Amino acid sequence: MTSQSPVLTPYQRIGGEAVVRLLTRRFYEIMDELPETYALRKMHSEDLSGSADKLFEFLSGWMGGPQLFIEKYGHPMLRRRHLPFKIGADERDQWLLCMRLALDEVVADAALRSELYEAIAQLADHMRNQGEASHACSNEAVAA
Ligand code: HEM
Repeated sequence: MTSQSPVLTPYQRIGGEAVVRLLTRRFYEIMDELPETYALRKMHSEDLSGSADKLFEFLSGWMGGPQLFIEKYGHPMLRRRHLPFKIGADERDQWLLCMRLALDEVVADAALRSELYEAIAQLADHMRNQGEASHACSNEAVAA
């Protein structure tokens, strides 16, 4: 007696492209509005639409949906792409604050929300290159 339920990807569970788009849009709107994340906002281009597109494309693949970022730009090498920016604990925490607030707004399923937050918090910590830096790990392909 086996009734196997299909294993859904986070991309499917969140609601696919439209919701991942909404998440990234809200993420950058929040970054643009919150006084607490002003320092993080200043690190970005004045026009955030290019950043939002890239984050959407990256998250699409990272959540198990279409690998849009890789199709356009090749291997993400995300940590390497962030090396031009000084990222310490403050910058990481500001980034994660925006992501937490965006997830709270956009993802109704509490279990999915916390799974996504935990995973993305690890990834954000991996971007640190200042202070007691998160080491550049050898399996960057896996860690993005
Ligand atoms: C931990 C703190 C982080 C900081 C301070 C940070 C900051 C930045 C900045 C300043 C840019 C350049 C955008 C622009 O010029 O407008 C960027 C690009 C990007 N970030 Fe982050 N980021 C962080 C974490 C993350 C995480 C966790 C992800 C993925 C979940 C991510 C995904 C991206 C992507 C996909 C790009 C575009 C890369 C490219 O140029 O091809 N970032 N980030």
